Amino acid sequence: MNKIDILLGLQWGDEGKGKVVDALTPNYDIVARFQGGPNAGHTIEFGGKKFVLHNIPSGVLTPGCINVIGNGVIIDPYILKGEIEGLQQAGFDLRQTLKIAKRAHLILPSHRVMDAANEKALGKMKVGTTLKGIGPTYTDKTARKGLRIGDINTVDFKERYNHLKQSHLHHIASYDFDMDSLRLDGATFDEYEKLWFEGIQYLKQFEFIDSEYYINEALDAGKKVLAEGAQGSMLDVDFGSYPFVTSSNVVAAGVCSGLGVAPSRVGKVYGIFKAYCTRVGTGPFPTELFDETGETLRQNGHEFGATTGRPRRCGWLDLPALKYAVMLSGVTDLMMMKSDVMDDFATLKVATAYRYNGKETLHLPFEACTETLEPVYTEIPGWQQKIEGKIPQKLEDYIKFIENYVGVPVKFVSYGPDRTQNVWR
Ligand code: GDP
Ligand code: IMO
Ligand code: MG
Repeated sequence: MNKIDILLGLQWGDEGKGKVVDALTPNYDIVARFQGGPNAGHTIEFGGKKFVLHNIPSGVLTPGCINVIGNGVIIDPYILKGEIEGLQQAGFDLRQTLKIAKRAHLILPSHRVMDAANEKALGKMKVGTTLKGIGPTYTDKTARKGLRIGDINTVDFKERYNHLKQSHLHHIASYDFDMDSLRLDGATFDEYEKLWFEGIQYLKQFEFIDSEYYINEALDAGKKVLAEGAQGSMLDVDFGSYPFVTSSNVVAAGVCSGLGVAPSRVGKVYGIFKAYCTRVGTGPFPTELFDETGETLRQNGHEFGATTGRPRRCGWLDLPALKYAVMLSGVTDLMMMKSDVMDDFATLKVATAYRYNGKETLHLPFEACTETLEPVYTEIPGWQQKIEGKIPQKLEDYIKFIENYVGVPVKFVSYGPDRTQNVWR
């Protein structure tokens, strides 16, 4: 029986998942997204070209690979249409290779407005969302009010759309929120709604599937399947720094509900982390650096959001948080990204514990959601040389330190954005 492998981010997102999924895709027949939506921005670079994917799995740039948007994903048809068209212009025709789950929920234009209105109402306590409508769409899903891809072809789709939209607008009217000056990707609400319906029509040329049968039958037939995570474990709705999180289960368990595969069918779990840490949006970040070193990481690593362009907050590697994420998902293989960003550093630091309430702890306590934990650091000598295909001894020592702490081997080291800039260990 073939098993499904999983690849997920272990920090606060943007670890480099897109790059690694693309690099691994030649070994797989199918790549499937299982959660999240266009809040994701997954970058892939090769041959001097750069692609950023939001709703589409990162296997699409490998000829012959089938890409599935699973039932746990939420879709904005306007954004998805734009992505497909952009890829088509670059020479990638997705009509035969992209399959969309009928059970995947739709992000309505009014979900995006709700996202903006909620954020405004929160004031200083805002989450710093991507404003793609993620929270309101998942809220409607669990409230059993959502619309799904499979509903697009039903006769009363427009009626149900209007009903849900009206309930959102009614709700928004109770907020101090100016709908008229709001712009969604540069468009007024009415303009966006029109583009959204064009997106709905456009998507009808793609195959809508029962993705749970599709994936399980593919595994039964001996196909190799990779599940691609979005966001990062520290943004998981249950285990992240709630309420400063996204609205889906980012950890490996999300694959079971987001694609309909049983836990016994899970094979390898690849966990991706940067050699340091970044976060976008609000919320606690124990190892955040506010000094020149933080700025160096941001500049060297081009740490600006792939979806929103926001500068990413930067800090040292946080090992208790990494170990927590490894535990939550049963990670079997670690992959370290962006080690080249620290090539010039004479020394670096890693957090190996936190100080909280006068005591040292190796755990992320419940209070870590809202309060600041003080990191306890260990200093590590830098490698001060370029990586270029071979891991320098001092970087090897850094990796061994991480492996000893976390208890899982680092199998892959990435030292540049290009598809080929990796070393397997
Ligand atoms: P994702 O959301 O996890 O797919 O990551 P993003 O695409 O949002 O952000 C990762 C960024 O780092 C992208 O710009 C990648 O091109 C880039 N990147 C990935 N791996 C490496 C690496 O090893 N070194 C450097 N310098 N950049 C990398
Ligand atoms: P990828 O897949 C980094 C963050 C937002 C915000 C919080 C909630 O590219 O790693 P949301 O729009 O989901 O309601 O925002 O989550 N966030 C991400 N941060 N990478 C992502 O995706 C993210 N997706 C959401 O910045 O703090
Ligand atoms: Mg990203």
